Amino acid sequence: MLDYFRRHLGAKLLLSYLAIIVVGVAVLIVASQFILPSSFDRHMSDMGMMDGGMMDMSGTNSMSQLFIDFRASFNEALTYATVAAMLVAAALSLLFTRSVIAPVQAMSLATKRISEGHYDEHVQAQGEDELAGLAMRFNQMAEKLDQVESMRRRLIGDVSHELRTPLTAIKGSMEGLMDGILPANDETFQQIHAEADRLNRLVDDLQELSRVEAHAYQLDFRSLDVSSLVQIVAKRLAPQAESKRISLDFELAPDLPHILADEDRAIQILTNLTGNALQYTPEDGRITISAKRISDEVQFSVRDTGIGIPPEHLSRIFDRFYRVDKSRSRQAGGGSGIGLTIARALVEAHGGRIWAESTGEKQGSTFTFTLKKFV
Ligand SMILES: Nc1ncnc2c1ncn2[C@@H]1O[C@H](COP(=O)(O)OP(=O)(O)OP(=O)(O)O)[C@@H](O)[C@H]1O
Ligand SMILES: [Mg+2]
Repeated sequence: MLDYFRRHLGAKLLLSYLAIIVVGVAVLIVASQFILPSSFDRHMSDMGMMDGGMMDMSGTNSMSQLFIDFRASFNEALTYATVAAMLVAAALSLLFTRSVIAPVQAMSLATKRISEGHYDEHVQAQGEDELAGLAMRFNQMAEKLDQVESMRRRLIGDVSHELRTPLTAIKGSMEGLMDGILPANDETFQQIHAEADRLNRLVDDLQELSRVEAHAYQLDFRSLDVSSLVQIVAKRLAPQAESKRISLDFELAPDLPHILADEDRAIQILTNLTGNALQYTPEDGRITISAKRISDEVQFSVRDTGIGIPPEHLSRIFDRFYRVDKSRSRQAGGGSGIGLTIARALVEAHGGRIWAESTGEKQGSTFTFTLKKFV
């Protein structure tokens, strides 16, 4: 019995209501025992005095009878009131059990289901009180868990798919060599080497992505000169641009302030976007890196005259492993669709934004990101 009360909020509440009623009734009984007789006498004698002192022996007797009757009716009323109060207490605690304990029980059940891996669990959130707020927050948490779980599942699927492609190619070439179908010459070895290299790059990119997304790196914020940053990137990518006869131009606003950023990471972002522009722009194209100040930020843009991006892909190209044309990327040197995801994570870690614009296929693309200016 005691255990039941200890484990049920409704029973505890009923008990507390009953305790209040018992205390109330006890106070009334004590009052009726000790205060009522003397107070009754006083009031009656006041009345007798008002009647002109007419009280005699028979008057005293009838008075005590009157008091006894009065006390009996008082006790009767008290008994009815106590019973009524108890009924009300029971009804209230039942009502409370429905409105408070039922949602708590639902949440407790949902928590158990979530801990068993059913992340699509939700509870009803009715009303506007604290419990409804708790239920709403609980649902948000469950939704977030659901997203994380499906992201984890998708990631494992994507990674295994990405790893399988070069592995299959290496395995195929090796089998060809063993069966004597493929000649054991430089070309075959280079092909296998290129696939192994691709695998290596993919693993490196994945490692970098997980580090960047988990914020497992320190940003060394410094005041940086925008023009020297752009020069470093241009110098690094010049050979690639030359080999495709792509001109690499700059449009740097004259009043550019310094930016507050981590130098290596800022270079990485810019190299990433310019590298993409080089990769997705055919020979004899043009790439323009520009920078201008917009309020307390510097806005960098990398514009190319390349293959462009169809509008329906624009919102997804920053997603992990997302490529507009998977087969084309592979043939064109094997992009894995991680570069822009890393770039976005880095820009956001600096407190900036990044987006892509393109009017469509063969119309060129522009990638823009912002970094805070140094104050
Ligand atoms: N300048 C660009 N012009 C046209 N398409 C682009 C451009 N930059 C990116 N894309 C598209 O966005 C996709 C994602 O780019 P991202 O840099 O993330 O991956 P990737 O270049 O394919 O591979 P990697 O991880 O090696 O960089 C590309 O596959 C390409 O389809
Ligand atoms: Mg890329």
